[in-house]
Amino acid sequence: MIRKPFIAGNWKMYKTGAEAREFIERFRPLVKSWDRAQVALAVSALSLPEAVKAAEGSQLLIGAQNTHWATEGAFTGEISGAMIKAAGGQVVIIGHSERRLLFGETDGWVAKKLAAALDFGLLPIVCVGETLQDRDMGRTFNVLANQLTGGLAGLSDQALRDIVLAYEPVWAIGTGVTATVEQAQEAQAFIRGRLSRQFNPEAAGAVRLVYGGSVKPDNAQALLSQPDIDGALVGGASLSPDSFAEIVNLVG
Ligand code: 13P
Repeated sequence: MIRKPFIAGNWKMYKTGAEAREFIERFRPLVKSWDRAQVALAVSALSLPEAVKAAEGSQLLIGAQNTHWATEGAFTGEISGAMIKAAGGQVVIIGHSERRLLFGETDGWVAKKLAAALDFGLLPIVCVGETLQDRDMGRTFNVLANQLTGGLAGLSDQALRDIVLAYEPVWAIGTGVTATVEQAQEAQAFIRGRLSRQFNPEAAGAVRLVYGGSVKPDNAQALLSQPDIDGALVGGASLSPDSFAEIVNLVG
């Protein structure tokens, strides 16, 4: 099964529109080949139009970091998939651990947001991952299984192929502590095995599973060479055009 590598930057609450434009102008010429991997940046919703404009004429996908499930409505502070799409966004992160832990997102919300994102024609990046406490208590696989059951509820076999799943152990995010290659591969193989029971095995074999958590140019190669790691979701190291391009250029 050939799975096209997927490398995405998650800018979190960094970079204004002007900073996004400057980044993208510097980043584009640094990428050696746009054909080896699909490359995306999830920017602040406010920077979306400017980022989309700066990416025009390239294969760089631009998207958002969250979406509501409704098209519109009385949901103060939220943005919809329709709005992301109208601004030129093509991808959206759903269920990031910061959304789950700091803003109370549940697996039920993830499932609704996922369905809406697919309806709007966005490429969803659904995040799962255990906390340090979960891992220390030996609950990693239980937590992942529950997140997959709840967050992907109602998803069809066909739609599973159209999403990207990101395994991001919470203890490795922004801490500089990367999961070892073995820990990451073990969890991602578990996820694929679990998906092959929850969905048809072919769809589970086709879905791209990426790793996130302190991915840097110097550890990305080892992670990306694992059989069940099809790419990376990069936080801190995606904020500099040089380090993000270095990671993208490792693929292939
Ligand atoms: P860091 O790469 O900064 O650890 O962030 C990972 C992440 O949360 C990407 O979504």
